[in-house]
Amino acid sequence: MHKKLVVGNWKMYGSRSANALLLAGLKEAGPWSAEVVVCVPFPYIAETALALTGQSIAFGAQDCSAHEAGAFTGEVSSMMLADLGCRYVIVGHSERRAHHHESDQLVAEKARAALAHGVTPIVCVGETLAEREAGQTETVVKRQLAAVIHLLTHCIGEIVLAYEPVWAIGTGLTASPEQAQAVHKVLRMQLQAATKKADAMKILYGGSVKPDNAAQLFAQPDIDGGLIGGAALKAADFSAICRAAM
Ligand code: PGA
Repeated sequence: MHKKLVVGNWKMYGSRSANALLLAGLKEAGPWSAEVVVCVPFPYIAETALALTGQSIAFGAQDCSAHEAGAFTGEVSSMMLADLGCRYVIVGHSERRAHHHESDQLVAEKARAALAHGVTPIVCVGETLAEREAGQTETVVKRQLAAVIHLLTHCIGEIVLAYEPVWAIGTGLTASPEQAQAVHKVLRMQLQAATKKADAMKILYGGSVKPDNAAQLFAQPDIDGGLIGGAALKAADFSAICRAAM
């Protein structure tokens, strides 16, 4: 049994004082047997790093540029994230695919840029409600993953994958453990065809994970942890989810 991975995605929430309280709450509640990560907004990375010094909680970012460096106003490179001590970066979150028109190709390029600097990309895939209802779930997630496999080739074993059905994000609707497992199995098989490391890779589930549904989701054979949004903003809820990931 591999260690589970639980990642908090703070999205565009927080303030210096709220973050300090949240991190203090997590430090008090831990450690857990799962690997725990918080992905925080860019301006708070340095302070988070300081607050987590000597702790087993890792930290990361929620996006990075596909470029190395250069005249890209407003962008943050994976080299900068590595420089700040980030171990992880979320790429291809559905909110970025939807609101910032990120393509499968761009998401793959961001994953490659992250790996080039030793930052593990957490690559998100997932179908919308309309796609699910049209029976396209498998086609969509496989297309999104295929772009990353194609670009990273033999390095694909180094990523973390997150299945986040768009209809379950922030809606209170969770995929049932069986629905999630079915998609995770499809993704695992796609990875198995691409790398010998597939069985050891982590495939996280995200979308309205809460303390009361986490254990059932994490008990599925191909669910290796969770990507947590709303519930990651409350120390009690996030630590209960980390505890559920035994
Ligand atoms: P949620 O968000 O847990 O609030 O549904 C998950 C995510 O967007 O990563």
